[in-house]
Amino acid sequence: MPNAVVTGANRGLGAEWVRQLLDDGWAVFAGYRNELGRLTTFENSNLTTHQLDVQSNESVAAFADHAPEHIDLLVNNAGVADGRWRNLSEIDDAWALEVIDINALGPVRVVKALYEKMNHTTLTKVAMISSLMASIDDCEMGRSYAYRASKTALNMFTVAMKKEAVADNITFVILHPGWVKTDMGGDRAPVEIPHSITGMRNVLASRTLENSGEFVQFDGELLPW
Ligand SMILES: NC(=O)c1ccc[n+]([C@@H]2O[C@H](COP(=O)([O-])OP(=O)(O)OC[C@H]3O[C@@H](n4cnc5c(N)ncnc54)[C@H](OP(=O)(O)O)[C@@H]3O)[C@@H](O)[C@H]2O)c1
Repeated sequence: MPNAVVTGANRGLGAEWVRQLLDDGWAVFAGYRNELGRLTTFENSNLTTHQLDVQSNESVAAFADHAPEHIDLLVNNAGVADGRWRNLSEIDDAWALEVIDINALGPVRVVKALYEKMNHTTLTKVAMISSLMASIDDCEMGRSYAYRASKTALNMFTVAMKKEAVADNITFVILHPGWVKTDMGGDRAPVEIPHSITGMRNVLASRTLENSGEFVQFDGELLPW
């Protein structure tokens, strides 16, 4: 049975990653920051849960210690929005640094801590859940300053990391889930959660070492940097 690790798994997109992977016969090791949330509703002996705050190296280390020895898929899903500041003068620099810490460095901490468990003779896939808002080419509306910057940084961390990871049979994909109806996406979002996850799982299925580091939307469209 293949092993998947999902971060930010207690609600939103993360919880649906867990549901679909369990349904598909995966063993899932799921991280939650505070509350188990939707994870309590999955009655499946292939699900293991563990506390995880991606901002804390201690928490990430404890999570990694308890993770399965052989990991086939890591979904770095945990993330936060920023303050929806309306203009430059409203940027809160302390919160901006938190957003960058969670969204850009959090996934890097998790990759570092789990690396040896992903480094084996069969291919391991790592999904970095980014956003179209990371795209410099696409940044026509501006605003969402810290969120955009955090996801752009995540993309660059990923492309830089993929170089060394290819030698260890680890492939990365940078995924945009679409604008999805979650707490973060809000009610006006056009994409339903299950549709987004099914799409991203289809993208994952096409991943090889050769296409590592691509920036791909949930429906398979390649995105501009
Ligand atoms: N929804 C969209 O339209 C959309 C679009 C583009 C990209 N994304 C990305 O998709 C991912 C999931 O988003 P979502 O819409 O499902 O958001 P969500 O409903 O707000 O869920 C966010 C998840 O991340 C967790 N999280 C936040 N900070 C964390 C930390 N420091 N350590 C561990 N977990 C943490 C949350 O845990 P708590 O419950 O403890 O807060 C929650 O489980 C995010 O990376 C987001 O940026 C979403």
